[in-house]
Formats: sequence, C-alpha cells, structure tokens
Amino acid sequence: MSIVYLNGEFLPVTEARVSVLDRGFTFADSVYEVIPVYNENIFRVQEHLQRLNNSLNAIAIANPFSESQWQQILTDVLKKNPSNSSRSLYMQVTRGVSDREHLHMNDLQPTVFVMSREVREQDLAPGVKVITHEDIRWDYCHIKTTALLANVMLKRKANDADGAVETILIRDGMVTEGAASNVFVVKNSTVVTARKDGSVLPGITRDLLLELLDYAGIQYSEDSVPVSDLESADEVWLTSSSMGVAPVVRVDERDVADGKTGPMWKKVDQLFKEFKSNPGMLK
Ligand code: PDD
Repeated sequence: MSIVYLNGEFLPVTEARVSVLDRGFTFADSVYEVIPVYNENIFRVQEHLQRLNNSLNAIAIANPFSESQWQQILTDVLKKNPSNSSRSLYMQVTRGVSDREHLHMNDLQPTVFVMSREVREQDLAPGVKVITHEDIRWDYCHIKTTALLANVMLKRKANDADGAVETILIRDGMVTEGAASNVFVVKNSTVVTARKDGSVLPGITRDLLLELLDYAGIQYSEDSVPVSDLESADEVWLTSSSMGVAPVVRVDERDVADGKTGPMWKKVDQLFKEFKSNPGMLK
C-alpha cells in the first residue's frame, strides 16, 4: 500500500482524505509538479521546486514550504515507499477549502499532497506516433495547473487515432507543445523548439535537453516552429518527465522523413542516458 503525504501527515493512500469543498476539487484551483527519480536521485529537484514556486506566485498562493522543507517531504515519501523500480513523485498544492465562491479569500490554508509512483520504462527506440490538433487551451500555459481538461481530451483524441501517444498542438499556424510534453523539430541538423512564453510549459526536460545539445556542440534555437516545418522535418522529438526524450516517427497520416528513428535522436538519447547515471556531467 503506498504511503502518501497529505497536510503534514504520512498516510496509506486509501486513508488520505480531502474535503469536497477543496478548491482543487471544485475549481481546479491548484498547481502541481511531476518529478522523475533516476537511480534514487530526484531529477533536477531545485528546478522543479522553482517552477512550482513560479506557478504558485502566478495564482497568488503563498508557498507553504521552504525549498529544504519540500526536499525533506519528497525524500520522506520516497523512503516510506521503498522500491527497486523507476519512480516519479507527484506533488499538488491547492488553494484550500472554502465555500464555492469564485472569488477566493487570501488567508486559506493550502492543501498539500505528495505521492510517489512506480513507472514502467518504455522502449522508445521504435519511435512513437502523434496527431496534431488546434491548441484549444488557455493563454497561461506556463502555469502548471491541474486544470487539465483540454489536455485530457487531446490525449484521448490521440489514443483514439490508431494508438497515437501524444497530440502536438498548433496555435496560429505554429507548433506550441504536446498535450503533456514539449516538442523539438530537427531540420538540416538544427534543432528548434518553441520559446518559453505563455504558449508552452517551461519543461524541465526541455531545458536539460538544450544543455545536453550545448554540451555535444549541436546547434539549436528557441524560436517559432511553423507547422510546415513539422511536415518537412528530418526528426521530431517530445520531451517530458514521464517519457524523457521520445522520437516521433509518424505525424497524423505522414511518416517523419523515412518513418524511422533518426541519428540525432540516437545521439541525444545516449547523452540523456549518460546524464541519468551521471548528473554531474554538465557541471
Ligand atoms: N507533464 N508541456 C506540458 C503541457 C506538460 O504537461 C508537460 C509535462 C511538459 C513537459 O515538462 P517536464 O519536462 O517538466 O515534465 C510540457 C507532466 C509529465 C504531467 O502532466 O504528467
């Protein structure tokens, strides 16, 4: 039985209870993080905690803990759930419990929830299929909110389309990101990904990948990606905490290049694996 952290207590997951008047439940008035754990290292924990802090600031919830208090909770949750598998941590902070009024009070006690989960390592080498869809989300995609209904619908659409794993989103003719990942397009040996503005989540894996590209001397830019570049790309990759770096071999009804995993992905996959076992390599 997994042990979770809820509002100061460690409890079996089946005993953890949140009020039906929690604003996370009634309004999705809440933010979250997903952090992978590689070889017992909590991956880029400071960066994840910084992004959580940014999301909390953006919606005017006071961060209930200092960075070291958060780190202690994350470490304790892992300790209380010993495992030999790969894992990830999920953390969520809601504005707390109140009457169901849109306008919130400023002095609510945030609800804090943390759990760990075993994750199955996916074999990404064969590549994955994706679909494209208009980006039907709001304009504040830099906030990692649990208001994920559009993302949930878009993932469903992908799955319904012949088992695609992700939906790449298009806004005004430009690629923003995936429903739960960032998108990279490779053309003529240059890697391009969208700028970190309100149209995308500032992905932690995205930023790491850019550092790895720098390390390997591979050219990249953070720029607008027209949908036509997606159609004529040599390679397309997705990055996220749950997948790592995934090569895309088919977009809608069209193969990416020859429909096989490309050489640049093989290189970055190798670098990413090296980084997981030796995070100090970039310092
Ligand atoms: N999602 N963009 C969106 C919309 C996401 O939901 C995610 C991650 C990313 C990638 O960010 P990162 O590399 O920091 O995981 C980009 C997580 C994994 C989720 O919702 O489960």
